[in-house]
Amino acid sequence: MKVIITQEYHETCIKAAEIILQTISEKQNAVLGLATGGTAIGVYEVLAREYRSGKVDFSEVSTINLDEYIGIDPTNPQSYRCYMDNLFFNKVNIKKENTYVPSGNCPEKEIEKFTEILLKKKLDLQLLGVGVNGHIGFNEPNEKLHADVHIVKLDEATIESNARFFKSKEEVPKTAITMGVGDILKAKEIVLVATGAKKANVISKLLLDDEVTTQIPCTLLKLHPNVTVVIDKALANMAGIR
Ligand code: GLP
Repeated sequence: MKVIITQEYHETCIKAAEIILQTISEKQNAVLGLATGGTAIGVYEVLAREYRSGKVDFSEVSTINLDEYIGIDPTNPQSYRCYMDNLFFNKVNIKKENTYVPSGNCPEKEIEKFTEILLKKKLDLQLLGVGVNGHIGFNEPNEKLHADVHIVKLDEATIESNARFFKSKEEVPKTAITMGVGDILKAKEIVLVATGAKKANVISKLLLDDEVTTQIPCTLLKLHPNVTVVIDKALANMAGIR
């Protein structure tokens, strides 16, 4: 696993964006797996800036998002579709029809649609954040994990952590649709970005030993041959990484 330690969060976003831009420069019609959450926001800002300065063309790029809350309509401002449109897609020349964010409606139908899309389009690169409990996508710690797209009950830690994006904790949906860990591990390349003290425990479990456990889903990334983890030095220090 490659680890890049940056001075601070903004540099983390630049480094992650550079890897994404490299993928697109090698393959104009790259398929990007995308993540939501607070940490990814800066990565999208950098990508949009690079687009404005003419350094990248997204017209042939396709994207597939990791996950969505069940019961949140794509038109709801809390939806990951709105997040992606507002923070990224509307700021670059990507074709909307080439972007897929799972819908939080009709879960059973959406599982089929999501699965079909992942069969048709192979991920060249997957951008990941990580939950405070080590989740990737919404693959929550458990005795067993799912390889494929599925519906998941959200962990209390995730609900608490994501409550900051809602008016109250009670408003956070209790279930989500997510790519499975197998879908994520099929990506040719993976870039994980993380920042903040709350991620120190899971980052040290990811980087400081060779243990793989479904109780800390990000540790499964140790099984993938091409992962880059980008973290700032404050987080690296807290995680005990020198
Ligand atoms: C949500 C997403 C995850 C993401 C996580 C990180 O839970 N479903 O895919 O990794 O947020 O969030 P943040 O960057 O806000 O800590």
